[in-house]
Amino acid sequence: MPEEKTRIPADRMPRHVAIIMDGNGRWAEKKGVSRIKGHTAGMEAMKEIIRKSSHMGIQYLTVYAFSTENWKRTMEEVSGIFKLLVQFVKLDLSELDEENVRVRVLGDYSVIPEAAKKSLDKTLKTTENNTGMQFNVAVNYGSRAEITRGVNRLAEQVRSGEIEGEITEEMISRSLYTGDENGNIPDPDLIIRTSGEERLSNFLLWQAAYSEFEFTDLLWPDFTPEAYEKLIEDYAGSDRRFGGR
Ligand code: FPP
Repeated sequence: MPEEKTRIPADRMPRHVAIIMDGNGRWAEKKGVSRIKGHTAGMEAMKEIIRKSSHMGIQYLTVYAFSTENWKRTMEEVSGIFKLLVQFVKLDLSELDEENVRVRVLGDYSVIPEAAKKSLDKTLKTTENNTGMQFNVAVNYGSRAEITRGVNRLAEQVRSGEIEGEITEEMISRSLYTGDENGNIPDPDLIIRTSGEERLSNFLLWQAAYSEFEFTDLLWPDFTPEAYEKLIEDYAGSDRRFGGR
């Protein structure tokens, strides 16, 4: 996979970028088309951003694709989003695999429609030995549910005697979806949210402790690889101090 020329020096490149892909619905409304058309356009944008991230040498890319709150949308919209996921795997899995991208899922996806679950299982299996960028897709993900699940797992380990003494921050980190079960993903260096909204919406609450944020007014389907690179350049020019000084 060729690394693209970019103006960003390698030592300023974020190792892990997480994205809240927001604004598909408003994009569709503006164009006078169905919300599903908005998500379809969002899927196209997502593909380009995966490709761009891999070519720029980013090691981990995480996207918020479906939250625990998204079930409140109409059945038509929910099933449309999962159909898109199936379509994505059918049409684009081979490209991901050729790019040497390894896919992981954050969230409890056992409850999503069967066809989408099978597609995800196939994706994980096909890409499991790939050694390039890790692409984490958050599906039926909510950070409070993630932390609660982790704490319950630790409580069980305390009860069984597997853990003796204090619970540490390290143990909590490892108990999350981003922990051991998905290869212990480093915390995101940069979190991007599109569409002008500036909040975390239950995404990576624990992991975002020292993350930088970049916001753009662009709606997700309008978010281009060029706009993405610009935000990464802004990040690369920032001075992260991790609470020091
Ligand atoms: C936010 O826009 C987007 C979503 C809730 C879904 C994102 C889904 C995709 C990009 C398609 C890919 C899907 C998978 C499962 C990989 P919004 O609908 O909240 O926009 P709005 O705030 O303008 O209504």
